[in-house]
Amino acid sequence: MANVTVIGAQWGDEGKGKIVDWLASRADAVVRFQGGHNAGHTLVIDGKVFKLSLLPSGIVSGTLSIIGNGVVLDPWALQSEVEKLEAQGVSISDDNFAIADNCPLILPMHRDLDGLREAAAGSGKIGTTGRGIGPAYEDKVGRRAIRVCDLAHLDSLDPQLDRLCAHHDALRAGFDQPPVDRSALLEELREIAPFVMRFAQPVWKRLKKVKRAGAKILFEGAQGVLLDVDHGTYPFVTSSNTVSGTAASGSGLGPNSTGFVLGIVKAYTTRVGSGPFPTELDDMDGQTLGERGHEFGVVTGRKRRCGWFDAVIVRQSCAISGVTGIALTKVDVLDGFETVKICTGYRLRGKVYDYLPAHAADQAAVEPIYEEMEGWQQTTAGARSWADLPANAIKYIQRVQELIETPVALVSTSPERDDTILVRDPFMD
Ligand code: IMP
Repeated sequence: MANVTVIGAQWGDEGKGKIVDWLASRADAVVRFQGGHNAGHTLVIDGKVFKLSLLPSGIVSGTLSIIGNGVVLDPWALQSEVEKLEAQGVSISDDNFAIADNCPLILPMHRDLDGLREAAAGSGKIGTTGRGIGPAYEDKVGRRAIRVCDLAHLDSLDPQLDRLCAHHDALRAGFDQPPVDRSALLEELREIAPFVMRFAQPVWKRLKKVKRAGAKILFEGAQGVLLDVDHGTYPFVTSSNTVSGTAASGSGLGPNSTGFVLGIVKAYTTRVGSGPFPTELDDMDGQTLGERGHEFGVVTGRKRRCGWFDAVIVRQSCAISGVTGIALTKVDVLDGFETVKICTGYRLRGKVYDYLPAHAADQAAVEPIYEEMEGWQQTTAGARSWADLPANAIKYIQRVQELIETPVALVSTSPERDDTILVRDPFMD
């Protein structure tokens, strides 16, 4: 029986929450391995809506849920999310929840810096979620982060705070901001420490035990491959590696444990924030996709940009992330279109590309080459077998599969857990 790694194969918001929840109900442990509370996962279970940003999606079904070392953790955001879920009847304890003790913290100074930089960048801004993700990762690789394990040693934090604040105070001065209020920060850390430390442990050890016991582990990626700091539309990306390989380094289990790589792919394309988006639609079709697909960010409430399916970027994501099979989501949003388009290549300065070039200016300038297919007028919402799908919807799915050179493992046909067509069970692979 395989473990499963779930990643987004576009710009995030592919509908990972539902798929992860569906898989989590059959897993023994769910691990988040990168990103932070910039992610937004919506789960709908028996009509009840749960919104998660930081907690692994397994938490709702009571599965052991782990925040790995690759995540950046805002302890106050965590506390508020835990409280909200508890108010919805979800039970969270150290039996079903653990946090890596070597996980770096997102502090108020990170949020400040994120906001200051974005405001100063004007029209050149990244369009971040404003959660301090980038600055927190910078401090991690700059070797000056405060980590979860430091919360047990707050009395000896001074040398680390010296290094951290020296860096931030210089940056803040450049924005005409006062230095970090160290005593207020220490006080806030003292207050939040007992809450976080309840769950802190060397999770690599716990995972090793889980693995030895033959349990099924689900690695839950956040964002999408096109937002990966190496492989994405740089600089309009997030600050972590969102590809499947990070499941190993961001959890403390080796690459031989990550198993079946399930790429989540929306049947059309969306993006929040700035940056290139070759198939973006500024017309009625784009508006229709946004309205039917309820394309608003879970975290920021921002309207998502919408466009036709781009087979070029998904083929690229699947290759880069070693995707074994995809879960195709939100096919029902395409119901009712007379024709639907798929981007099969790009044109740039008279040359045809079968990949997205690395340079930002080229990414912004490529023109999509479309293939047009007949749409379908019947609904696909709630379909649970191929027989429930109109012939043209099946043709569309087959064409997607062919163009991205990766097989379809699942088709999701509504936000409800059971509205899924299962072609190949990732856990049984
Ligand atoms: P950051 O991760 O907040 O630094 O934002 C960097 C870029 O990633 C921005 O374009 C965000 O809109 C995008 N982003 C971050 N998290 C998500 C997500 O969960 N879904 C979609 N886009 C995201």
